[in-house]
Amino acid sequence: MALTAQENDDLTRVGPGTPCGIMMRRYWHPVGFTAELKGKPVRRKLLGEDLVLFRDEKGQLGLIGARCPHRGTSLHLGYIEDGGLRCCYHGWLFDVSGRCLEQPTEPAEANFKDKVRQPSYKVEELAGVIFAYLGPEPAPLLPRYDVLVREDGVRSLQGRIASCNYLQMVENTVDQHHFKWLHRTPNTKKWTDPVLTSEYFDYGIRDTFARSGGGERYQTLSYFIMPTMNKTGYHVPESHPCGMAANHPGYEALRWRVPADDTHTMHFTVYFAPVVDGKPTGTIPPDSGAKGVVETTPGQYRYDEATGYLARGDQDRAAQESQGEICDRTIEHLGVSDKGVIMLRKLYKDSMDAIAAGKDPIGTIRDPAKNRIVEIAPGEFKLS
Ligand code: FES
Ligand SMILES: [Fe+2]
Repeated sequence: MALTAQENDDLTRVGPGTPCGIMMRRYWHPVGFTAELKGKPVRRKLLGEDLVLFRDEKGQLGLIGARCPHRGTSLHLGYIEDGGLRCCYHGWLFDVSGRCLEQPTEPAEANFKDKVRQPSYKVEELAGVIFAYLGPEPAPLLPRYDVLVREDGVRSLQGRIASCNYLQMVENTVDQHHFKWLHRTPNTKKWTDPVLTSEYFDYGIRDTFARSGGGERYQTLSYFIMPTMNKTGYHVPESHPCGMAANHPGYEALRWRVPADDTHTMHFTVYFAPVVDGKPTGTIPPDSGAKGVVETTPGQYRYDEATGYLARGDQDRAAQESQGEICDRTIEHLGVSDKGVIMLRKLYKDSMDAIAAGKDPIGTIRDPAKNRIVEIAPGEFKLS
């Protein structure tokens, strides 16, 4: 059943005070990479807020409002010096907590600097990823997902931004049948097998789907984890007829679709391949964390010349951006195969209701014992 315009707004708008914005602010979100902070501040948008991410001379991380409270120049153009971040325009200086340390153009005796305060948010680093929390205290724990904390393998990081609302990107993660069509290859022009299972688990939704092709049957198990993450894994042999998996056997990936604002979404990925007998079990893409969140151009997508299909790296973005900046869900026709999408929207609604009732939203972790390592095991398996 299609959503009403109001329901769609409630699920897609992420600014302060909106139902979804309030819910998203109860979770930690990736906002950047350790390697991209090279002595300069970085501009970032998160949940509709203009922010600047920086590391001061002492190595402390800061995430503060980007608009200088003096006359609005963006602090991402500023300089890291004298214990903070100095605005390029008239030299006001801010520390990582948003305190104004200096106003060189104002008389010192006026103490005007003590009357301004820049918004500042909590940040933590894990596995080279910088996570931010924009919500009320006490903040929940930053989840220690297995691939972020395991020490028995190799990792690589990627970040890029897409020009559409986060929800259509997140819906993709529980929309299992898209694998068979959007990601088909010349070997797998047609898949059959409508088997699809979506079920709730502690942190979100566990999705299983089967594919039959070329006389063989495969099963894929992946997880959606509140509020924007999914975990996939590929454990299949090289002979798997699905090109996407055959190119990357033996790794796992965490992927977040983080709302930058209502019409832009940051896509962060952490790849992890265990090392066994001195060799990684899978080939993971090169680490591009030092590049930060890479821009993309909406409407520009590569095609694979050999097949005529959209190229693998652009398939999801093309499908999602073409749904519109914010997909109009009042005109959709959901079928049985959209069960995961329906369950996802309910999960968000239940989390919003929980917050309204004074409780934590679904998937929140506050118990350190539960957070030593959060293990989740996806995979692709050949069925007999
Ligand atoms: S606008 Fe930043 S110091 Fe004036
Ligand atoms: Fe996909």
